[in-house]
Amino acid sequence: MKVMATFWLIFFLGLVRGSYQVCETWTSINETIYSQTYVTITDPTANTVRPLGFKTAVYRFEGERPCKTVAPTDGNMRHIEVKWELEQAGRLCVTNNANNQNRCGTSRQFSLCTVVPGSQSSIEYRFFCEGDGCESGDKLFWYRFVVESPMENGMYNENWCDTRDDRYPGSLVRLPTNFIPPTQATTPRNKASSVASNVLVMMATLLIAAALH
Ligand SMILES: *[C@@H]1O[C@H](CO)[C@@H](O)[C@H](O)[C@H]1NC(C)=O
Repeated sequence: MKVMATFWLIFFLGLVRGSYQVCETWTSINETIYSQTYVTITDPTANTVRPLGFKTAVYRFEGERPCKTVAPTDGNMRHIEVKWELEQAGRLCVTNNANNQNRCGTSRQFSLCTVVPGSQSSIEYRFFCEGDGCESGDKLFWYRFVVESPMENGMYNENWCDTRDDRYPGSLVRLPTNFIPPTQATTPRNKASSVASNVLVMMATLLIAAALH
């Protein structure tokens, strides 16, 4: 009897875990302090570095449908931006518990900016996959939610979505693996300096080649 009860309990818990995963609370980072550091999605520090405020998640064909609770989301005509960048181009969808509208992306990057659906104080977003390109496999991706902050008068900017930055974690500058970041790592390096450093690396290589010759 006990064995059967345990079996069913485990089976039931498995079902609950598989289909109705608890929504994890989304923690946003103030945009003024986003990390501009390039980090690969498989890097163990990816979720502590949080490039441009993104975090990583995985959709598993066999089970995981990551779910995130975003709050606060109430406010008249407030906006929300949802973005993701997959490790590999493919299909990924998202739905929410406010209007249950499904939105899917088919390339590597996806961005959606709208007025917050419904008028709930929090919204659950669930990532899933349905349709062509969802037949198998796991999908690793960066994702981010940004909820518009009220202006000084407490209102929301109707053009907020047009003001959004179009970058993704993959847009950040990739530094060579042996590069030691300067202490002031907040200023992105411009094209000129990366050309200059490329020239330096080339010259060093030539010098070493000449010395070994
Ligand atoms: C982010 O930080 C800046 C500077 O400290 C501050 O002015 C702004 O209100 C913050 N935004 C949010 C949404 O907390």
